[in-house]
Amino acid sequence: MSEKVKVTVVGAGGKMGTRVTNNLAKHVDEIELYFVENSEFGVKAIRDRGFDVTPAEVAVPAADITVLAVPDSVIKVVSEGIVNLLRPGTALIILDPAAAVAKELSLRDDCTFAVTHPCHPSYFLDQDTYESRNDYFGGLGGKQDIVMALIQGDEKVFEQARKVSEIMFEPVVNSYVMGIRDIAFLEPTLVELLGATCLYAMAETVNEAERRGIPREAAISFLAGHIYNLSANFLGILDAKVSDACQVAIGLGNRLVLREDWKKIWDDTVLDNVIATMLHPENPKI
Ligand SMILES: NC(=O)c1ccc[n+]([C@@H]2O[C@H](COP(=O)([O-])OP(=O)(O)OC[C@H]3O[C@@H](n4cnc5c(N)ncnc54)[C@H](O)[C@@H]3O)[C@@H](O)[C@H]2O)c1
Repeated sequence: MSEKVKVTVVGAGGKMGTRVTNNLAKHVDEIELYFVENSEFGVKAIRDRGFDVTPAEVAVPAADITVLAVPDSVIKVVSEGIVNLLRPGTALIILDPAAAVAKELSLRDDCTFAVTHPCHPSYFLDQDTYESRNDYFGGLGGKQDIVMALIQGDEKVFEQARKVSEIMFEPVVNSYVMGIRDIAFLEPTLVELLGATCLYAMAETVNEAERRGIPREAAISFLAGHIYNLSANFLGILDAKVSDACQVAIGLGNRLVLREDWKKIWDDTVLDNVIATMLHPENPKI
């Protein structure tokens, strides 16, 4: 990047806003950064980090790239105002596909719209330092991949959004570009509907083990070690097969733990209803 890229983060005092601005702020030679925030708590958090807050009416028209880091449930309302302020030819990045898939993100034909989402540091990645190995979310030194989608707009502007996204979530190993619904099938479908649900059940089962007198540390070690080993096995990273007895247990688990029709989570209608319900739980669609 030869000239400085102007980046505005809306919701810069929130969880993601804080993470991405901490990384963007390290690149003063490449990036001119603006912080937009509307809550007292968020404004204080930004000032406590030594930065200033700029009104959206100033920071958004100034930006080459605007990052909308507000909760998905308010993107419909907030994006109406923010998208109106974008300078023609610039980009808006959102950090989750849900609002765009649900058609709640305001769009404009003269701007580029993208989704960026972090994969989080994988336990298969070889991290270099103690700190990066202990970075479970990413952004604190842990290497990670990101996924991106162009919702609509210009490929060149998207490439600039991609470079900025790689800084937001640095150090990034791969930035994978795919369709917006592909990202939605990764999250919520793969990692929340299925992954988080299964892992939550595993954590509840650790609690049950502890209640029955099994040392908690032993149960956690047993679980984490098996997750590492079995995922390497099932994902083809390890050239090995699980035991015959484990195959039998998987068959039983499919009947006892998973519902017979669980693969319908890959139906488009189920995805749309899940996203609608996640965005507005007060009006469930599934
Ligand atoms: N939290 C995560 O782990 C995570 C991970 C990946 C992606 N994301 C995505 O990041 C986005 C932000 O989520 P979050 O968890 O950081 O939310 P958050 O609630 O922690 O922060 C949102 C911030 O936006 C501010 N805000 C709300 N409306 C605003 C407005 N009109 N103008 C300026 N600021 C406003 C809020 O005051 C708050 O500080 C969402 O799209 C979410 O899906 C979150």
